[in-house]
Amino acid sequence: MSDKKVLRPELWTPRPVAETIAVYADWADTYEAEVTARGYRTPERLAHALSGFASADTAILDFGCGTGIGGAALRAAGFTCIDGTDITEEMLMKAADRGIYRNTWVSSSDDMGFEAGTYDVIVAVGVVSLGAAPPETLHPLLAKLPVQGLLALSFNDPTLADARYQDALEAACTSLSATTVFREHGPHLEDVGMGSDVIILQRQ
Ligand SMILES: C[S@@+](CC[C@H](N)C(=O)[O-])C[C@H]1O[C@@H](n2cnc3c(N)ncnc32)[C@H](O)[C@@H]1O
Repeated sequence: MSDKKVLRPELWTPRPVAETIAVYADWADTYEAEVTARGYRTPERLAHALSGFASADTAILDFGCGTGIGGAALRAAGFTCIDGTDITEEMLMKAADRGIYRNTWVSSSDDMGFEAGTYDVIVAVGVVSLGAAPPETLHPLLAKLPVQGLLALSFNDPTLADARYQDALEAACTSLSATTVFREHGPHLEDVGMGSDVIILQRQ
């Protein structure tokens, strides 16, 4: 990583759910401008990768949608049917205001707010990561998909350095019969030299 100042250097550390919500509620008004200014590339990389595996009219859930940057990238990649959810209401309201989501709702860490099998594709851009959703989120998220369903997610470099996330990914794939159909490292916050893996899993 370069020596340029990373936005919110305290961000990439584990924390309780209530603190996570407080961090993002406090950040909601400036989040998008700050990460955009730092060259946030993962959403467009993930949307581009997903377009090789899913048709444009597939119903997609943008899980942990934040202010809707991921939804906007999905729309730019041609996807037309996107719902969004997030545990932080202040972030979600900004996503809803974009007018690109079919439905939006506030979820909680123990209730994602939708039935298993509702979506063939779930996207989680920058969500299951240090400072946001914990590794234990991966199993229930993957379990929401039907057979052949896709989970497209990202792990940034600090998250890749914490073995708990990769371990949880492998455990969820083993227990729910999912395989990795795409995985590529590339720029995450380009301006600070931070990378991320874009990963697409498919249930078998
Ligand atoms: C780094 S932001 C990413 C937002 C958006 N996906 C993006 O790419 O800009 C992380 C988001 O995850 C949300 N989040 C954290 N834990 C979550 C959970 N357990 N379920 C749903 N959303 C969660 C936060 O509220 C925050 O909006």
